[in-house]
Amino acid sequence: MSQPVIAATGLYVPPDSISNNELVDAFNAYVGAFNADHATAIAAGDMAPLLPSSADFIEKASGIKSRHVVNKNGILDPAVMRPEIPERTNDELSVLAEMAVLAARDALARWGGNVSDIGAVICAASNMQRPYPAIAIEVQNALGVRGFAFDMNVACSSATFGIKTAADFISSGSAKAVLVVNPEICSGHLNFRDRDSHFIFGDVATAVIVADEALADGGWSILGTRLKTQFSNNIRNNFGFLNRCAPEGIGAADKLFVQEGRKVFREVVPMVIDMIIAHAEHLGVDPKGLKRLWLHQANINMNDMIGRKVLDRVPTPQENVIILDEFANTSSAGSIIAFHKANSDFAVGETGLICSFGAGYSAGTVFVRKR
Ligand SMILES: CC(C)(COP(=O)(O)OP(=O)(O)OC[C@H]1O[C@@H](n2cnc3c(N)ncnc32)[C@H](O)[C@@H]1OP(=O)(O)O)[C@@H](O)C(=O)NCCC(=O)NCCS
Repeated sequence: MSQPVIAATGLYVPPDSISNNELVDAFNAYVGAFNADHATAIAAGDMAPLLPSSADFIEKASGIKSRHVVNKNGILDPAVMRPEIPERTNDELSVLAEMAVLAARDALARWGGNVSDIGAVICAASNMQRPYPAIAIEVQNALGVRGFAFDMNVACSSATFGIKTAADFISSGSAKAVLVVNPEICSGHLNFRDRDSHFIFGDVATAVIVADEALADGGWSILGTRLKTQFSNNIRNNFGFLNRCAPEGIGAADKLFVQEGRKVFREVVPMVIDMIIAHAEHLGVDPKGLKRLWLHQANINMNDMIGRKVLDRVPTPQENVIILDEFANTSSAGSIIAFHKANSDFAVGETGLICSFGAGYSAGTVFVRKR
């Protein structure tokens, strides 16, 4: 059996960035206009006024300070409040594929291997731009990769599920190297008029090359991968191809991202802690000896709690990497951004953990050792 290795990673960051203050100013302008438009109903007690958002609340409750997005102007226009992404023709590279290709090119340049050695492309992300042809096949075509490609969606856990799938392809000999891309335009499914969640997400793309050890110069041995799912409605997105078939009409906000944030926090944190500790034990890895945690980036308080339990001490910022202050929650890409940005100081033999968790519920652990 071949030993799978994370041979390289890549990152594409959209140039636009929105601070909490900018986002809150736009939201509160919308709230002011909405309440003025409905002043009579509000005064009569027939309608509750919308409440303003607060940048202080956002940073304290989540750790988020800003987010990168594919289009800033549309999101910040109180009359629009969504990214404006012009439709492209079928002959042009689609937006999601374009972001994935840019992240993949970054990973390919760091790898130094040959595109001809890649046997598969997996696009693992929360939201695909269309059902078919697969975004992964479009990326495969743009990069000139042989073999096969397919899309998979396990929400925020898509990257670890993709890495596990790629690692299994390497172990079984189905491919010598696999490109996993995670393009996330999370702003496209975010309700920027919802006070509870308008601050949560950002846009980005990451790429991971998983290869047979013979094709990796250095890199990271994958010691083990483990996946878990458990059904929950607490994070949900009802957008789908049957929306247009509902006789009662498509509805509105409920076809975007919705969550019960408190419940998610309470239920997912213990699930992930148990999973990490059990998987570490299974692999003979002492969790307290992990040099680094590259956790999913949804909420700094969640990550603090998981880090404290797993390492059995208060982790330093170097041990428990946080990137959501700059990027917000970028769904599947979060743990990969953290890994990509904070691994250059590892000595050969040191061990760390990539871990994702999110909707489904779903969670994935990938223990890696520097080689
Ligand atoms: C979303 C999240 C940041 C919200 O933080 P929270 O501390 O749970 O906040 P709550 O929703 O309970 O709201 C607390 C208070 O702040 C208020 N509030 C909510 N949004 C606000 C905003 N934008 N600005 C100001 N106040 C706000 C609420 O109305 C509530 O007020 P009350 O106490 O008077 O009722 C947090 O629950 C979270 O990150 N959970 C995990 C989510 C997750 O991992 N999801 C995976 C996504 S893929």
